[in-house]
Amino acid sequence: MAQSPNELTLREGKPRDIPIVQSFEGLPENQGVVGAWSKEGHLRAMHHADYGYLIVEVDGKPAGFIIIKGVEAKDIICVVRIIIGETGRGRGSKALRALKALCFERWGAHRFWLEAIGGNTRAQRFYEREGLKHEGVFRKHYHLGGEWVDSIIYGMLPEDYEASKKSEQAQVSQAL
Ligand SMILES: CC(C)(COP(=O)(O)OP(=O)(O)OC[C@H]1O[C@@H](n2cnc3c(N)ncnc32)[C@H](O)[C@@H]1OP(=O)(O)O)[C@@H](O)C(=O)NCCC(=O)NCCS
Repeated sequence: MAQSPNELTLREGKPRDIPIVQSFEGLPENQGVVGAWSKEGHLRAMHHADYGYLIVEVDGKPAGFIIIKGVEAKDIICVVRIIIGETGRGRGSKALRALKALCFERWGAHRFWLEAIGGNTRAQRFYEREGLKHEGVFRKHYHLGGEWVDSIIYGMLPEDYEASKKSEQAQVSQAL
């Protein structure tokens, strides 16, 4: 069946996708904002039963990726890394909404959480808009670009997920 234009999908990442994942990690704007692993590091994580790799595709072409941890038990899911290549086009929202639905609706997760670097205010706005709650700060937790930076913790419980879905539906009906 033909895909509609701008259709965003998530598919499972395989070892052959590692160059794609590394190309997003290597974008100049992502340096010091998100982590990056070697090919061996990605292979180790991909072969670890608790990690999941999701390739974000738009119209069948790679547009970003998400690495999650916690897929063995599926009750507490951590987003280890999310990178969208062309930012500011709503792709991150669509990808995160698809991931939240997978975690809460299919897997019945009890908690969904992630960390953002203190200076990454764009990502922090993004997570708050998507209904994640600011849960705390690990002060000066990572050494990045020659300085110690804070790690900001965001989390979502099933009740937060339900509230975020209601607010998305309200935004859609307001826009109609
Ligand atoms: C954080 C990230 C995943 C968000 O993904 P994204 O695709 O940029 O997210 P969205 O487009 O849905 O929303 C981001 C911004 O675009 C705006 N936007 C959404 N849809 C849009 C559209 N169709 N056209 C223009 N702008 C749009 C949003 O209002 C938002 O604005 P803001 O930055 O002023 O708050 C992405 O920016 C990214 O990969 N950043 C680099 C890596 C990173 O920081 N990862 C997170 C580590 S914790």
